Amino acid sequence: MLVGAVAPNGPAQGLEGKRPYQLKQMIEPFPSSVICLLSSDSMPLPSLLAPSLLAGDHANLAASAQAAAQAGATWLHLDIMDGHFAPNLTFGPETLAALRRAGSTMYFDTHLMLDAPQRYVEAFAQAGASNITIHIEPAYDHRGTLAGIRQLGCQCGIVLNPGTPAAAIEPLLGAVDLVLVMTVQPGFGGQAFRRDMLPKLRQIDQWREERGLKFRLEVDGGIDLVTAGECRAAGADTFVAGTAFFRATDKTAFARAIGALP
Ligand code: DX5
Ligand code: ZN
Repeated sequence: MLVGAVAPNGPAQGLEGKRPYQLKQMIEPFPSSVICLLSSDSMPLPSLLAPSLLAGDHANLAASAQAAAQAGATWLHLDIMDGHFAPNLTFGPETLAALRRAGSTMYFDTHLMLDAPQRYVEAFAQAGASNITIHIEPAYDHRGTLAGIRQLGCQCGIVLNPGTPAAAIEPLLGAVDLVLVMTVQPGFGGQAFRRDMLPKLRQIDQWREERGLKFRLEVDGGIDLVTAGECRAAGADTFVAGTAFFRATDKTAFARAIGALP
């Protein structure tokens, strides 16, 4: 019952066989979903920060994850690149597993920038992913892969590049827990925010409201306190920040400022 209340658009999940961090994630990362059930449909989800570990210390990722948690973040964004879909190489499932072994109970927001994500979702789910977000651009069974992610006990998301129109993901909106709008071309941290993505956010937010859907609307790339405010005004509620978060002298203040976006 409680699980249904915290993840209203996810599958009914039993508690059996869940690891402790999974139980914690099922209850804690979605207070907004509870609020959704109690409030009017037009009420925006509370703003949520997802620090991107890509900008952390790659010689000590566990310490960077801990710094994010200590600043008050409950989500941690993990960028997985294969050198094909995006022109860079980052982490694999073993990195997530190692972060879990090091004690992280954060919500692992897992962004797969892969040509063939369907081959890897099981490995990432077993390694401790909380959600798995897959790109619309490569050709594979998107709907089947999203359903498979849920069957593995994770939440699922769809993501689109700056050059991909919102219409490309529109048929899948009822099948996801999260939509990620890239506000830079995937590959590297520290790029300039693409302000021309704001109309795309507004369009997806409008579809969400018209259809009474509850997915989170996330932005990723060039997000700082100013650009997050612009995205919030366009309907975003979940903010990935790499460079701006890890370079902030007061990470707690940064996290609070994102959480306080109106
Ligand atoms: C870009 C990645 C982003 C990246 C954002 O390909 O998907 O998650 O870490 O980094 P910043 O916040 O520095 O733009
Ligand atoms: Zn990302």
